[in-house]
Amino acid sequence: MAAGSNSPSPQSVFLTNNCNQRMISVPKHEMLIDSHAHLQDRQFSQDLEQVMQRAVAAGIGKIVCVGYDYETSREAVALAQKYEQVYAVIGVHPHDANTLTADVISKLYSLARDPKVVAIGETGLDFYRDLSPRELQRQAFVEHIKIAAELYKPIVIHDRDAHQEVMDIVKKEKAGRNQGVMHCYSGHLPMAIDLMKEGFYISFAGPLTYKNAHKAVEVASRVTLERILVETDCPYLAPEPVRGKRNEPANTLHVAEKLAQLRQKSLAEIAYQTSLNTSRLFNLGN
Ligand code: NI
Repeated sequence: MAAGSNSPSPQSVFLTNNCNQRMISVPKHEMLIDSHAHLQDRQFSQDLEQVMQRAVAAGIGKIVCVGYDYETSREAVALAQKYEQVYAVIGVHPHDANTLTADVISKLYSLARDPKVVAIGETGLDFYRDLSPRELQRQAFVEHIKIAAELYKPIVIHDRDAHQEVMDIVKKEKAGRNQGVMHCYSGHLPMAIDLMKEGFYISFAGPLTYKNAHKAVEVASRVTLERILVETDCPYLAPEPVRGKRNEPANTLHVAEKLAQLRQKSLAEIAYQTSLNTSRLFNLGN
């Protein structure tokens, strides 16, 4: 269908690239999924409705909304109840590991009864900012692995400057027994291979598009496409060419385009494969 010549048929949606105004039409099953977004962030409180509309216009068929403490996990579930295309991940970020009390753990179990809760996280270790004491981060990480195991759900892991310890815990605690994803991947290729052996997918966000992203580019170029997801981690980490601005799910397109370029595939092929991967991991159905 020629761009703009007709209104989209029910099976298709226009995939809009804001940077050069190019428009292409892709079938619904080739829509992208933003596998990691924080729609409940205060930065979206004024205009979430427009953000959601721009996501649809950009061909983002589904959005996985990730909590980072109890309150934002509850909000992720509320958004998943409100929007059909939104799914929730619940947990406490390593930055807030010191808030993971017994009370919060039991409240997470209650939240997880909602059928739109598809995974546990984001959890892991952040030794870059060290906003919670490292020992508490380790304990909280192990606790999340336990919750995910008991609920038969995959796990969403955040790792910043803690590669070796994250891998040690992943292996020792069998964090990937129900599969999982290492989000906004920043490690090297051997670690990605190790992670895939442990049942993990590798997810790429805006940094893949940055000029100095040599490591991420190498990993994204070489690991099997069957294990790659795309995400925004919005409102953070906006990709090129909107780097530095508030990020939003529509920008998943820029990450997918970079991946398409690296793999010498069409955007439609990348959309199809990464959406299939995300649906498999989180059991999103069609
Ligand atoms: Ni995140």
